[in-house]
Amino acid sequence: MSRLLVTGGAGFIGSAIVRRAIADGHEVRVLDSLRADVHGDPQAVIADHEARGIAFVHGDVRERVALDAALDGIDVVCHQAAKVGLGVDFQDAPDYVSSNDAGTAYVLAGMDRLGIGRLVVASSMVVYGEGAYTTSTGEPVRPPARRREDLDAGRFDPIGPDGQPLVPGLIDESAALDPRNVYAQTKVAQEQLASSWARATGGRAVALRYHNVYGPGMPANTPYAGVASLFRSAIARGEAPRVFEDGAQRRDFVHVDDVAGANLASIAATDALPDDSFRAYNVGSGTVHTIGDMAAAIAGTAGLEPVVTGEYRLGDVRHVTASSARIADELGWRAEVDFERGMREFADAPLRAAVR
Ligand SMILES: NC(=O)c1ccc[n+]([C@@H]2O[C@H](COP(=O)([O-])OP(=O)(O)OC[C@H]3O[C@@H](n4cnc5c(N)ncnc54)[C@H](O)[C@@H]3O)[C@@H](O)[C@H]2O)c1
Repeated sequence: MSRLLVTGGAGFIGSAIVRRAIADGHEVRVLDSLRADVHGDPQAVIADHEARGIAFVHGDVRERVALDAALDGIDVVCHQAAKVGLGVDFQDAPDYVSSNDAGTAYVLAGMDRLGIGRLVVASSMVVYGEGAYTTSTGEPVRPPARRREDLDAGRFDPIGPDGQPLVPGLIDESAALDPRNVYAQTKVAQEQLASSWARATGGRAVALRYHNVYGPGMPANTPYAGVASLFRSAIARGEAPRVFEDGAQRRDFVHVDDVAGANLASIAATDALPDDSFRAYNVGSGTVHTIGDMAAAIAGTAGLEPVVTGEYRLGDVRHVTASSARIADELGWRAEVDFERGMREFADAPLRAAVR
């Protein structure tokens, strides 16, 4: 068993990792700044951790005193702390880069200072941009960003060089990284910093590219929330979920408890990796669903019908679904929560209250 630090351990995914790590017998410490745009009353969050006997350092990963106190005596760091979501507009860019790029650099420098050599870092499917596609004749192709005039005309699928819609497939870790917004750039930077740290210090790092994570404790309706949480919040207000485009966007929805399991498998794996290693893994359920399927699965339990609006957001990707074969082959991890059960439970699971 290890002495584990979970940065961002009070967040949606971090809390699930903390619960699972304690159940597995690890000694767990949390470092979290309790961002004001994420959490309500910080004292209540700290008191809740204390009541459960979890060591909690309230501080920012960019603050040396808090970071060193949190890292003291630790064997392995699970770095979840980040500013998440797509952001509202470009005014969010400095906060993304400072929290995520600089934040990770500070964590890694601290690990180097204290001689800690094992890291698991939260990455995201957004590092791939649009997913994997082939042309109608089976040639692999990377589509450019979709054009506004196609979207306005309801042509949502990326179009190939022959003028036909491209055929979506499963993306694997060998695909080129193609981040298409500031948040995605920061997830690529976090991975690359982790890889540079491993090379410079002999450390061992695993980056987990989570797909669409859902489950209890997800943030409620905020500009930064994922689609599952937006639909779940609509249902809580008694409204039908509003589905953009035609609802056929393909995604891989993975339950937060499964994501926690993937982190624990990776934490164990960092012990066995050779020095100076960096490995990235997709973390998905392994099954493809559409956004329309997901809206129907959640709305159905409340007796509501989703409304397909045809609206779009220019920055959204059309399809991105993962092959999670590498993590199954190398670490023996597979998702266990099935879509129908997970969504049924999610439909009335508690959400984290919106704070702004
Ligand atoms: N939710 C998803 O679907 C998803 C998908 C892919 C990747 N991720 C990644 O997973 C990780 C966790 O995301 P989440 O959904 O749990 O988000 P969250 O906002 O619920 O949790 C993040 C936590 O980190 C803390 N934090 C942020 N900046 C910090 C800093 N500088 N110092 C200390 N603490 C800080 C916040 O207070 C919060 O408790 C993030 O790295 C995110 O990029 C999430």
